[in-house]
Amino acid sequence: MRIGVLASGRGSNLQALIEAWKHGELNGELVAVGSDKEGALALKRAEEAGIPHATFPLSHFPSRKEQENAILNWLLEQKVELLALAGFMKVLSKEFLHDIQIPILNIHPSLLPSFQGLHAQKQALEYGVKISGCTVHFVDEGLDSGPIIAQEAVPVLPEDTEDSLSARILEAEHRIYPEAVGWVSSGRIKRNGRIVVKL
Ligand code: GRF
Repeated sequence: MRIGVLASGRGSNLQALIEAWKHGELNGELVAVGSDKEGALALKRAEEAGIPHATFPLSHFPSRKEQENAILNWLLEQKVELLALAGFMKVLSKEFLHDIQIPILNIHPSLLPSFQGLHAQKQALEYGVKISGCTVHFVDEGLDSGPIIAQEAVPVLPEDTEDSLSARILEAEHRIYPEAVGWVSSGRIKRNGRIVVKL
């Protein structure tokens, strides 16, 4: 399956996907990396891995809608069949989800449905939970609300800071994201409305 990735930042999850792909563990190939941020480290990682990549800064477009359309058209041109969001900081519109018609996955640094949105690790610390983790889910029209594919829990330690908890969660992200992408690209997992079906 032809897999595309959208990323806005450092791209460590993209790197985990690249490593899995190189080890033949992705059941597909990485064919496109798009970013809305010029100079994102994710783009450098794509370059080094020889993956076609493109940047779509908002400042180059008259509106958010046109920026999103450009991303959509580029992904379609690259014939992407599965899209993985990896730290992509834009919420995709209902129209985008409807028009692209391929599975879209996201990785989030909490055990959803707890701590949706930004700064999930800070939210977990402030709430005082003793266990947190990460979630891979299908993307739907809501914020971090789509059907859950995989989760991994990590302990929250008394001495944790946002940085130390984020680092522990990130290690788990790098384990479960490539695995979950592989399940979907191999057809072992499918989405049927809100239900995730294992075949
Ligand atoms: C990760 O924590 C991911 O869960 C969240 O954004 C962060 C991206 O990190 N959606 P990276 O760019 O993959 O290193």
